[in-house]
Amino acid sequence: MKNIQDIRQDFPILSRIINGKPLVYLDNAATSQKPQIVIDSIVNYYTLYNANIHRGVHTLSQEATDAFEKARQKVQKFINAPSSKQIIFTSGTTEGINLIATGFSSFLQKNDEIWVLTTEHHSNIVPWQLICQKTGAVLRPIPVDDKGMIVWDTFEKQLSEKTKIISCQHISNALGNIHQIEKIIKKAHKNGAVSVIDGAQSSAHFSIDVQALDVDFFVTSGHKMYAPTGIGFIYAKKEWLDKFPPYKGGGEMIKSVCFEQSTYAELPYKFEAGTPNICGGIALGYAIDYLNELGMAEIAQYEHELLVYATEKLLSVGDITIYGTDDLAQKASVISFNINNIHPYDVGAILDKMGIAVRTGHHCAQPVMDFYHIPGTVRASFALYNTFEEIDIFIEGIKKAKQMLG
Ligand code: ALA
Repeated sequence: MKNIQDIRQDFPILSRIINGKPLVYLDNAATSQKPQIVIDSIVNYYTLYNANIHRGVHTLSQEATDAFEKARQKVQKFINAPSSKQIIFTSGTTEGINLIATGFSSFLQKNDEIWVLTTEHHSNIVPWQLICQKTGAVLRPIPVDDKGMIVWDTFEKQLSEKTKIISCQHISNALGNIHQIEKIIKKAHKNGAVSVIDGAQSSAHFSIDVQALDVDFFVTSGHKMYAPTGIGFIYAKKEWLDKFPPYKGGGEMIKSVCFEQSTYAELPYKFEAGTPNICGGIALGYAIDYLNELGMAEIAQYEHELLVYATEKLLSVGDITIYGTDDLAQKASVISFNINNIHPYDVGAILDKMGIAVRTGHHCAQPVMDFYHIPGTVRASFALYNTFEEIDIFIEGIKKAKQMLG
């Protein structure tokens, strides 16, 4: 991988001073910062070739269309999808899961079962609950142990012909646990069910091969992978994209419209009603170029080293409870923890005074907090531009918070 100081130079925001201290940004699971190449792509788009796409014969429209479709091809290659027609641009993971859940509403019947992990983000719970209310299907939580890992024996016994969908986070945003999605996908198929993988926390950190996984649906958000907010994508097997009705109606997704009946556009446009986030899509393409340049395997290795270092240092402070698995080989670079009896918000506020950004609270995963009977956690999440020195500063911040609040 490129030298870490050179990488940091690529991210202008990292030189900010916050509350008199250099920024230590450890809230990457919430959103990542953007490299100059992505920022420049946004400025260039609006400076040089902003136009609506797929509509105009004029040069600007063609340039914007070419750039947007090129970005779709970059996404296709990044996850090894068989065709760019199977890449649907969305506003992010939440919209992606809502689209998939809505698409299934005409295929589900009363008492059909949809399984999600006990530790899911709300965006992989609530869209399914809405569909259950419409169809009579039942949402069931995949059991996890006290480390938040799947209890396979119990889960396997609960699967049956009623199981229609298993929708599972690849990595828990609240705990950092990496789940065995290969096994999830195989179990789903063995039971005649489909698999949906929420890759919001994985696509910036690990290489994804949707064909090797044989996954039916993979969704993620661009903003956690160094692209802007408001862009994400779905990969889906073609059979499902052909079967699903459109998610939204409007321009762009039609072949013909008359008052008696409308016909729909070919894939992927059938699912992209309205003017899409053109600039966001193009910028996502540049973010993917950036990730490819550094190398996904190298990124994963470096972030793992940060995780190992930070975990050891944090535990050495004492009175720390880390939630999630302690097998770091099964963990992404996320540490969710509490300092004994100290409210996470208070810790977060003290860290902020020292220029350190972490997330505190339930992390949009209230069932996880209920599971541990806690109001929330402090979450430090690392990215490819973080350093061991920043972890040292973070640890000093934790010691200070413990001293002041303990
Ligand atoms: N899902 C994002 C997080 O985990 C917002 O912080």
